Amino acid sequence: MIAIGPELYLWFKTLHIVGVVVWFAGLFYLVRLFIYHAETANMDPILRKMFHKQYALMEERLMNIITTPGMLVTIVMATGLLLVEPVWLTQPWMQAKISLVLFLLSYHLFCYRIMGQLKKGNCYWSGKQLRALNELPTLLLLVIVMLVVFKSSFPTGIATWLVILLIIFMALSIQLYARSRRIKEEKQLITE
Ligand code: HEM
Repeated sequence: MIAIGPELYLWFKTLHIVGVVVWFAGLFYLVRLFIYHAETANMDPILRKMFHKQYALMEERLMNIITTPGMLVTIVMATGLLLVEPVWLTQPWMQAKISLVLFLLSYHLFCYRIMGQLKKGNCYWSGKQLRALNELPTLLLLVIVMLVVFKSSFPTGIATWLVILLIIFMALSIQLYARSRRIKEEKQLITE
């Protein structure tokens, strides 16, 4: 470690982790809002207009005040960590982590695109598709955290597969719950 000292490194790491938490909280909630926003398509036009305005405002504020600043803090602090400890860059786990972070950044930019489309009223993603899309950052989060915790001894044994199966099970349960709720609402509409 260069002369700046280990304490600075730990400060960078602390703020890096805080940035990650804020970034992911924003990403998860943002796509939830996209789902509710997309589902206003089935509403009565007056209600739809009101909800559309409110969701567009909430999405823009969440993106600009929480999600993007969280991303910037994560990346700036990560740069600090690498400046203090550049040797990490030569290690394969870090190269894999950076590749996944680039993928996550593309997802972040893609969310801007969906936000713009929803605002203009020309988003063709259904609530169901957006729900499935929302599983992607969960998977990235798991693998990135595993890379940084296990580093070069990334586990490929039974425990890893059990964790992955658990996440797939949770994702499928969310989709099935949303589906049964949708069917129930449709039945209610027919009987009214
Ligand atoms: C270009 C982006 C990133 C770079 C260069 C980077 C780099 C680093 C470095 C050098 C460390 C310190 C490792 C150590 O001291 O053992 C670290 C820690 C950490 N990073 Fe990142 N990171 C990035 C993005 C992310 C993202 C997106 C996440 C979450 C999904 C994340 C999660 C973590 C966690 C949880 C730690 C703490 C691990 C521990 O102390 O055991 N990082 N990161």
